[in-house]
Amino acid sequence: MCGIVGIVGTRPVAPLIVDALKRLEYRGYDSAGVATVEQGVLDRRRAEGKLVNLQERLDSSPLSGTIGIGHTRWATHGAPIEVNAHPHFSSGVAVVHNGIIENFRELRKNLEADGFEFSSQTDTEVVAHLVEKGLRDGLSPEDAAHQAIQQLRGAFALAVMFDSDDNLIVAARSGPPLAIGHGEGEMYLGSDAVALAPFTNRITYLEDGDWAIIRRNDLAIFDTSGQTVSRQQQTSVGSALMVDKGNHRHFMIKEIYEQPEVIGHTLANYVDFNAEKIALRDMGDTQNPLEFSKLDRLNITACGTAYLAGYLSKYWFERYARLPVDIDVASEFRYREVPLSENGLSLFISQSGETADTLAGLKYCEESGQRLAAIVNVRESTIARSSHNVFPTLAGPEIGVASTKAFTCQLSVLASLAIGAGVQRGHIDEAQEKELVRALAETPRYANEVLKLEDEIKELAHSLANKEHVLYLGRDTNYPLAMEGALKLKELSYIHAEAYAAGELKHGPIALVDEEMPIVVIAPHDRIFEKTVSNMQEVAARGGNIILITDPKGAAEVGMDEAKVIVMPEMPEIITPIVYSLPIQMLAYHTAVHMGTDVDQPRNLAKSVTVE
Ligand code: F6R
Repeated sequence: MCGIVGIVGTRPVAPLIVDALKRLEYRGYDSAGVATVEQGVLDRRRAEGKLVNLQERLDSSPLSGTIGIGHTRWATHGAPIEVNAHPHFSSGVAVVHNGIIENFRELRKNLEADGFEFSSQTDTEVVAHLVEKGLRDGLSPEDAAHQAIQQLRGAFALAVMFDSDDNLIVAARSGPPLAIGHGEGEMYLGSDAVALAPFTNRITYLEDGDWAIIRRNDLAIFDTSGQTVSRQQQTSVGSALMVDKGNHRHFMIKEIYEQPEVIGHTLANYVDFNAEKIALRDMGDTQNPLEFSKLDRLNITACGTAYLAGYLSKYWFERYARLPVDIDVASEFRYREVPLSENGLSLFISQSGETADTLAGLKYCEESGQRLAAIVNVRESTIARSSHNVFPTLAGPEIGVASTKAFTCQLSVLASLAIGAGVQRGHIDEAQEKELVRALAETPRYANEVLKLEDEIKELAHSLANKEHVLYLGRDTNYPLAMEGALKLKELSYIHAEAYAAGELKHGPIALVDEEMPIVVIAPHDRIFEKTVSNMQEVAARGGNIILITDPKGAAEVGMDEAKVIVMPEMPEIITPIVYSLPIQMLAYHTAVHMGTDVDQPRNLAKSVTVE
């Protein structure tokens, strides 16, 4: 994940910015840079690789100036080389940015037609040129930045600085978080409060859609409608630690909110957004890359939520790549004496990379001479170190015991792998690949949209609180997602919850349905929507209370009388399971909060289960 730092200060800021960037290192990055303004001149130092390289540049060629912005970049658009490192300039404008600007291609084309020359392959550079264009059109720096921000689509956070004003940074948030720190005659900006901890613990968090004008002794924040808004200043308690809760009540909800950002970063590791192609980055044995065309079987093993990500991907691998998949919970797989195919791949999914059962499954496959691949969130973990091919999720540290962002990042990797496998195996042509990649690129934006439904979901959650049982229904990829919904609800709220494939209900479980039974139905308006709705009507006829998660088309067909409806945006089918994970997580979270359970550390559970 990229990291942003900015300081409008009273002392030389370049060393302070590098210090703050070091505190964001945990997010992962592959290049870094810093820019300052000194006597009306904008200057920058950038370097590939770790911050020590940037430090060396600064040692041999220091930057003065009491205002500056800095960045650690995790490559999304364009290779991790110096020309793509931030800050990006356009004449007297400097920009750092985190996230993905979805419409950058179109913006770039227009800017090129207007004579702007691009020096990088990034999506970020369009922002610098758009601001510059506004200045040329006679706008003030603040207005030039604002009009540029208004033209951007996607999930992003950014900071803009000008050579013409050494007392101004404009910041904007549309998705990824931004924290503003208040000092004595200085103001700071960071991707989180941890970055700003050496300077201040007085923090104001921008809300989604906000943009801000930051000066040494002044902060003005505006919302999407352009109205001045006041956002509460708070004391950041956890900022001495490596991670804190930001302005959230629990780590879990903070991690839910991080999803647009971390999904974007994870996808960027496996997708070339410029070329609109899958480009899998394997962090394992690069001499020995994975060739999906040579595989005859994929065998996936994992536990809990990671298992459900694997289960869901079975639909993708079989549909898009025609690759047969076996999926097992690790505690069963390890003793099942499974015969493994000689040309098979064994894939292990684990947030921690240390789960004992999953590791035991891996050892079994290793002894059988299988090729081993891993999807892990902790890159140095045992499962990663023991695998031939390693595909990390870039979710950042997940502190809440109940997995949220690791799950959607696992799905992001799995969707990319399945499409990549489909291309390699000749089942997806170039045009289909482009279409699927474009859909993936939109995931962070849709996820961000869905976060705005939180208040509505919270209200629905209150109707689940204190129920004895809840059923979850779905078909196709929404079936494993229903299982994940049930798992989240039971582990957080201790309400008994079960998931069924919607079509299976009538073969037994429908006997459970009465007026006391809430039923959560996950059904975007897809090929099998009608079938799921028929199953839903079977339970409605027996008095079940339905919460339907669907899109506007689905909502229009069902009508609001039959069910309480969470209306999701309409989106491409491939990304629905990733984006529909969010309402499911929020539903479980708010039910548990309402019931007063320990959301971040539910009873009897541990984050990394290293025992059998
Ligand atoms: C549920 C949850 C667990 C984990 C499981 C596997 O919210 O977090 O079910 O998914 O214990 O853990 P990892 O992914 O670390 O192997």
